[in-house]
Amino acid sequence: QSNAMWGGRFAAGPDAIMEAINASISFDKRLAAQDIAGSRAHAAMLAATGILSDTDSRAIREGLLTVLSEIEGGRFAFSTALEDIHMNVEARLKEVIGEPAGRLHTARSRNDQVATDFRLWVRDQIDAAVAGLRALIAALLAQAEAGADWVMPGFTHLQTAQPVTWGHHMMAYVEMFARDMGRFADARVRMNECPLGAAALAGTSFPIDRHMTAEALGFDRPMANSLDAVSDRDFALEFLGAASICAMHLSRFAEELVIWSSAQFRFVTLSDRFSTGSSIMPQKKNPDAAELIRAKIGRIMGANVALMMVMKGLPLAYSKDMQEDKEQVFDAADNLMLALAAMEGMVRDMTANRPALAAAAASGFSTATDLADWLVRALGLPFREAHHVTGTLVALAERKGCDLPDLTLADMRSVHPGIRDEVFGVLGVHNSVASRVSYGGTAPDQVRAQVARWKERLG
Ligand code: ARG
Repeated sequence: QSNAMWGGRFAAGPDAIMEAINASISFDKRLAAQDIAGSRAHAAMLAATGILSDTDSRAIREGLLTVLSEIEGGRFAFSTALEDIHMNVEARLKEVIGEPAGRLHTARSRNDQVATDFRLWVRDQIDAAVAGLRALIAALLAQAEAGADWVMPGFTHLQTAQPVTWGHHMMAYVEMFARDMGRFADARVRMNECPLGAAALAGTSFPIDRHMTAEALGFDRPMANSLDAVSDRDFALEFLGAASICAMHLSRFAEELVIWSSAQFRFVTLSDRFSTGSSIMPQKKNPDAAELIRAKIGRIMGANVALMMVMKGLPLAYSKDMQEDKEQVFDAADNLMLALAAMEGMVRDMTANRPALAAAAASGFSTATDLADWLVRALGLPFREAHHVTGTLVALAERKGCDLPDLTLADMRSVHPGIRDEVFGVLGVHNSVASRVSYGGTAPDQVRAQVARWKERLG
């Protein structure tokens, strides 16, 4: 038997395979709350504009609440034959309130309906991502404040470069995650326009009030072009783009935690609550959460690329291809929220191993730049020459199997006779970090100032 919603011109119902490829209810049932909110706003507007009687509008809006409570209570029988969430809800509404249910779809299409539902859903996810980032940043600020003057090695090429502070390293991620927050917030502003009332593609001849529905659903305004309203999924792509960049940041930090928690580094100890063991090796404590966060970028970025590919060849306006937007965004959002929460938990719980950080900070000739800078400042050498002198001293220390502060003054003078005893003052790592007072530098006072600035900004 043919479909009750559009069966008028059909003699036969769909093949089972047709039904299987066409149906989206298995996943778009996640839009139920948004779908019902959109329908209730639409029904209220239809009454306010005199398109629907108050009695019918009220029956529809109350019936929709009944349907919502059935869905939320797990008492709703979803039907694949009814294709998607929109038709599932409407069909059930008909069972609950009877004839007036058929009037709800006046001046509306599933095309503007789904675009509205999905925008509402993505908007909520943006708010959730911002909240998750906020919590993660709070955890990083706590780490940074505690360790504003703990020294650790700073790396380039993962080779010892110059000493930095633990707080400075944590604050680098605060900056990145704060920009992620900004990207989500920017996307939210752009996407917060309402497609409802665009109808199938051309608008409608009914005297609807699109400003009213837009306002009821918390949008800033209705979308200005009905073709655009039902056609584009750029808002979902912006969400996925922001999510991909955020996941990339999470992944880099996760990679550092994997390295730092190894027996070779021992920079941090992850809590038992955010580690796992091995079924065969009794000594193991594995950073699985960090590894999985590192892996999540793959599926989040994958979703971004997949949806871009779905959209790139579609002529205006709606094509069924666009039904493939949801699973990608659902999966990416779920995994982003999980990754943010897991990272927050790990950061909150982890313990920095101060002695190991300090020992590592002092190794690898990390203050060679400080020595070269001293040669420039105290002896007036051109930086290039100071660089060469210092390199020669590093080679000498390497031959002697010691670090720069372990060289004797005689060793130093053998390379440059002008070197004086005070040079040893600049070779200590604490001195080194304390001297990096340029704005944004690693000096503890700079770090504390940045912590205070962010605390004030985030309230
Ligand atoms: N389930 C559909 C989707 O997600 C709803 C829109 C269907 N519209 C249509 N003209 N077939 O895109």
